[in-house]
Amino acid sequence: MDRRRFLLSTLLGLSSPLTAPLASDTRFSASPFSLGIASGDVTDDSVVLWTRLAPEPLKANGGMEPCGVPVQWELAVDPKMSHVLRRGEAIATPTFAHSVHVDLEGLEPGREYWYRFSVLSHSSPIGRTKTLPHRDSYPDSVRFITASCQNYTHGYFVAYEHMIRDQPDFIIHLGDYFYDASFGVDDFRHHETENAPVTVADFRRRHARYKTDKQLQHAHAQIPFFTTIDNHDAIEDMDPEKFAQRAAAYQAWYEHMPVRGYSAAGDNHFDLLRKISLGGLAQISLLDGRQFRDSKEICGNNDYPDYGFGNYRERCAAVFDDDRSMLGKEQEMWLTENLVHNKATWNVIASPGPFLPYRYHHDGKELSYIGAWDIYPANRKRIAKAIETAEVGHPLILSGDMHSFWAVDGSLTKNPSERIPVVEFVASSVSANWPEQLAKPVTDNLPHNPQVKFYDPDKRGYLLHDVTETEWKTTARAMEDVRNEQSPALDLASFIVSKGKPGFTRLY
Ligand SMILES: [Fe+2]
Repeated sequence: MDRRRFLLSTLLGLSSPLTAPLASDTRFSASPFSLGIASGDVTDDSVVLWTRLAPEPLKANGGMEPCGVPVQWELAVDPKMSHVLRRGEAIATPTFAHSVHVDLEGLEPGREYWYRFSVLSHSSPIGRTKTLPHRDSYPDSVRFITASCQNYTHGYFVAYEHMIRDQPDFIIHLGDYFYDASFGVDDFRHHETENAPVTVADFRRRHARYKTDKQLQHAHAQIPFFTTIDNHDAIEDMDPEKFAQRAAAYQAWYEHMPVRGYSAAGDNHFDLLRKISLGGLAQISLLDGRQFRDSKEICGNNDYPDYGFGNYRERCAAVFDDDRSMLGKEQEMWLTENLVHNKATWNVIASPGPFLPYRYHHDGKELSYIGAWDIYPANRKRIAKAIETAEVGHPLILSGDMHSFWAVDGSLTKNPSERIPVVEFVASSVSANWPEQLAKPVTDNLPHNPQVKFYDPDKRGYLLHDVTETEWKTTARAMEDVRNEQSPALDLASFIVSKGKPGFTRLY
């Protein structure tokens, strides 16, 4: 938070000077940079730099006194920080858990920068970031990653070490950055408590647990992130009685992410929509799939609680209502506008949950996954129409949530009324498991779903995308074993989408 925003929040009564005096004589029991540093929300001329002061990360308030602390930041053009381009001071306040978001504008496009924070005698490690290509340029190529779903208790975040080696321009994290539950304790890593977070203090401790992970810290310090929120990051419940819990989740999420979009402490709204422009090469619309969706519990049925843990259900008539929405009106308008007026070669949607249909045949009934677009069919149809209406740009969809790798050609869907001529690549999880009970129904139903041309439920990992004017290449990078902190990675499969041609081909 810069001084202006600090003063503004003070005026708004969010942290009065009496409860948050600036402390120039603060001393820390250990390095206050225990949660690392990060950059994100990059554009062609801006970046958000982040840190949070927390000398004792798992203690209440991170071990900080309830007062504001000035933090110095520097931005340089070289990795050793010998040519500092800009420097300044931000105030870390207790209102936002002593986090700092420095929003820098006026940077050069497509360029690497290095940065560092310091407070008193402590300096953070040096971080690296990179701005996006100029909005009016046409880059030869862009390389980026989609990843999602990291449960601290299920595996190491070793996938990030491989992402760093891949040297992507940025990472899009599609949600479930942390987990509210471990889903059964075993003898691996543990959350700081088995209780699901409810208050802002709880959420801060859970985020701190994750942010102490050295491999995650390493990635944040090397690569800019875009992030969105899925169901384990914050509850999607629209019940007013749960608003305080959702606001607590949003606030703590903001306090631990290199992002813009959260305006005031206690706010129950987060502006997560991002149009990521890669010049004339690609446009990526990053969605918020949880904040505005109509309830998934609309049919009042859960006939098969043991089948996929009750996540696969029959669709009642209400599911097909025209008004029913995954995105909410405003977001749908924003996305439609992006898709239809796109001028870039690749017209991409990045969605936390899977977009294309998948049917489960069970007990003589047809079931659908209630976490996905399958239970918002009218909304999906309108988006599909916008995709088809767009005159420019080859459409593509990137998603996560399924803890397994998928490559889907929507034009091969059995039911002609549900065919959508678009390809979707689903990233597996960084570490969250995909238990047999969820995986088996998918495997059993592959013959009914010929649109799914590749499915791997066994491996954790991420998707690497290499984009050029004529070809889009997506590679599924899998970890051999996420319980090995040094796990090697293997390339499970690689797919090519050729501009202007339907479907995709598998390279290996
Ligand atoms: Fe997940």
